[in-house]
Amino acid sequence: MSTEAIAILGGGVMGETLLSGLLRAGRVVDDVVITERRPQRAAELAERYGVKVLDNVEAVAQAETVVTVVKPQDMAALLDEIAGAVRPGALVVSIAAGITTAFVEERLPAGTAVVRVMPNTPALVDEGMAAISPGSHCDAAHLARAESLLAATGKVVEVAEYHQDAITAISGSGPAYIFYVVEAMIEAGVLLGLPRTTSTELVVQTLYGAATMLRETGEHPTVLREQVSSPAGTTMAALRQLDDHKVRAAFLTAMEAARDRSRELSSGSA
Ligand SMILES: NC(=O)c1ccc[n+]([C@@H]2O[C@H](COP(=O)([O-])OP(=O)(O)OC[C@H]3O[C@@H](n4cnc5c(N)ncnc54)[C@H](OP(=O)(O)O)[C@@H]3O)[C@@H](O)[C@H]2O)c1
Repeated sequence: MSTEAIAILGGGVMGETLLSGLLRAGRVVDDVVITERRPQRAAELAERYGVKVLDNVEAVAQAETVVTVVKPQDMAALLDEIAGAVRPGALVVSIAAGITTAFVEERLPAGTAVVRVMPNTPALVDEGMAAISPGSHCDAAHLARAESLLAATGKVVEVAEYHQDAITAISGSGPAYIFYVVEAMIEAGVLLGLPRTTSTELVVQTLYGAATMLRETGEHPTVLREQVSSPAGTTMAALRQLDDHKVRAAFLTAMEAARDRSRELSSGSA
């Protein structure tokens, strides 16, 4: 067994995203195993990546790092199944929305190191944003291991676990807000008479260009916005309408609602 051995439990969308990201980032396929409930899906992953597909207990028994990538409602059963097989010193990384490190720790051998992760879907194109939080038995080396694992699919930040509901509201759900704005701008282009394909191309490239400027210049968004807002010009006419319609306030309220919903789901009260 390699000290790098990683077991990915759950070969769905995020499990496959992580597996393919790790292989693209240079991990050798012999260091990764995956588990999957549906045999047809297991065969598909084995064929596509040449990865070994094991059952959960076998996979965990040989792993230094175990990543749980099942739906939150499947976590309790999965943890009960693997508890007896977790190796001493192994790290368990949980990618299940709303599942706390305490929930995972309670179901595993005392002292097991656990890291909780909130990823987002751009991980599919290696541009993910993952926030990681240490559990109570996690040291700097465990956190570094989790960070290097997730860096295969994008950026990683470390946050205290009490911030995870806010993280869910901002970067976890964030891609959906951006897609929503993109949809609205494409519709606006059609309203103004542009062919739909042209409108789509204009909006997608504008988003990509603006995002690249933000990242590459490091400028504050206010500075970049002011560069396209000439006095009494077209941009100011549009921005005034957004202010009149309280779009900025709506974003604040929307993300508070997402944060509150995340809290409700984590506490099991919904
Ligand atoms: N922030 C985000 O944007 C984001 C995005 C995606 C996912 N996530 C998190 O990532 C996790 C996985 O999501 P997903 O979209 O990848 O879900 P998914 O596509 O449903 O994948 C989960 C996979 O695990 C399998 N599975 C369930 N229980 C299992 C078990 N005991 N042993 C082995 N395999 C098992 C499922 O099989 P079945 O099909 O038979 O159930 C399914 O193939 C979720 O907890 C979610 O909260 C977050």
